[in-house]
Amino acid sequence: MKSQPFTYENFLSENCKAIRSSFLREILDTAEMSDIISFAGGLPNPDLFPVSQIKQALDRVMSEGAKGTLQYAGSQGFLPLREWIAERYYSRFHIKISPEHILITNGSQQALDLTGKLFLDRGDCILMEKPSYIGAIQAFSAYSITMEQVTLEYDGISLTELSEKCMLYNPKFLYGITNYQNPSGISYSHEKRISLAEMLMARKLPFIEDDPYSEIYFTKTDEMPVSLMVPEQCVLTGSFSKMISPGIRSGWMIVPDSLRSYLLKAKQASDLHTNNIVQQLIYRFLTDNDIDEHLGRIRSHYHHQKETMLRLAKSYLPVNTKFTNPNGGMFIWATLPNEFDTSELIRFALQQKVIFVPGKTFFLNGEGNHSMRLNFTNSSPDKIEEGMKRLHTAIDLYMNHKSVKV
Ligand SMILES: Cc1ncc(COP(=O)(O)O)c(C=O)c1O
Repeated sequence: MKSQPFTYENFLSENCKAIRSSFLREILDTAEMSDIISFAGGLPNPDLFPVSQIKQALDRVMSEGAKGTLQYAGSQGFLPLREWIAERYYSRFHIKISPEHILITNGSQQALDLTGKLFLDRGDCILMEKPSYIGAIQAFSAYSITMEQVTLEYDGISLTELSEKCMLYNPKFLYGITNYQNPSGISYSHEKRISLAEMLMARKLPFIEDDPYSEIYFTKTDEMPVSLMVPEQCVLTGSFSKMISPGIRSGWMIVPDSLRSYLLKAKQASDLHTNNIVQQLIYRFLTDNDIDEHLGRIRSHYHHQKETMLRLAKSYLPVNTKFTNPNGGMFIWATLPNEFDTSELIRFALQQKVIFVPGKTFFLNGEGNHSMRLNFTNSSPDKIEEGMKRLHTAIDLYMNHKSVKV
């Protein structure tokens, strides 16, 4: 008798089935496979990875107390590294954060997942910016919740809409990226940060502030994170991915006292602790080198790459395309005239061996058709020029195709 082949379909959890696929990771696989110029992924420029300093730091870690380093460690993370992070916030914002409130995570992506573990039950609702980071949408989707988006204006989230949606959906929390947002490149203004802080307090709404890009600015602004204005109601996440390298998979969370023990349990259940060798390596790298000099190099390279991309995009993309002009981070957001659908355009771009992320990916309700996210950090100025020319050809072909169809 021929039996049906085994399938896990009936065994998989509903939560697992609810996890959204990541267009980005799929596209990254394509970009790695061929001679495509990718403006799609959010990759840093590998030429700026501090390879020799990392090697020296690793040598030091492994020659000084290696047995301890190779042992299991505390769940909260390597204390000297947490102290370094606290000191960094103090030097930037003159606000004291206790290392006790900092947890080292496996990248800020893990911080988002732990946030989900802390707060979310099936059927809950959360709010986030429109458009928003797809990695967060993916992380939160694992908790079988509903997500509602609130328009992101040129100076931060729309507070009027936020207020309306708070009343309508009674959300568990608001998730937002206040500096050089992914995907839009937008940063919250000083005024909006203050008004948001006031609204969070008035509404008693927790805020998850995802801040991996704040040290990657082009001209110094260092606006204070909203979380430091309302620490009791916020979770602030940071990352070493853009400051050092994403391959080291390290970041942190700052939480108030009231969440500490819950977060520690969630972290223990997840992975016991973040890789101990890597934590010590980062600490050595940070203390044996001049991090500001290193960041200065990244900032000036990315600034130049952003200027190059913006200049070329303005000449190669259709007239009346609108662009953001970010003062940091990794992305430019372009909104093409209404006759362009970037989810269709991407097929023509792929044929020309250039890719971007269609805007729709960052919206939950099918909007964003006319927009695209362009990454400027992972391509040299020459590549940016070649990529923009290819995009121009793709746009011509797309327009011809459309007019033939009409
Ligand atoms: C807004 C945002 N949050 C979190 C992450 C995840 O970063 P990490 O490498 O620290 O996990 C990214 C990565 O691009 C991001 O853009």
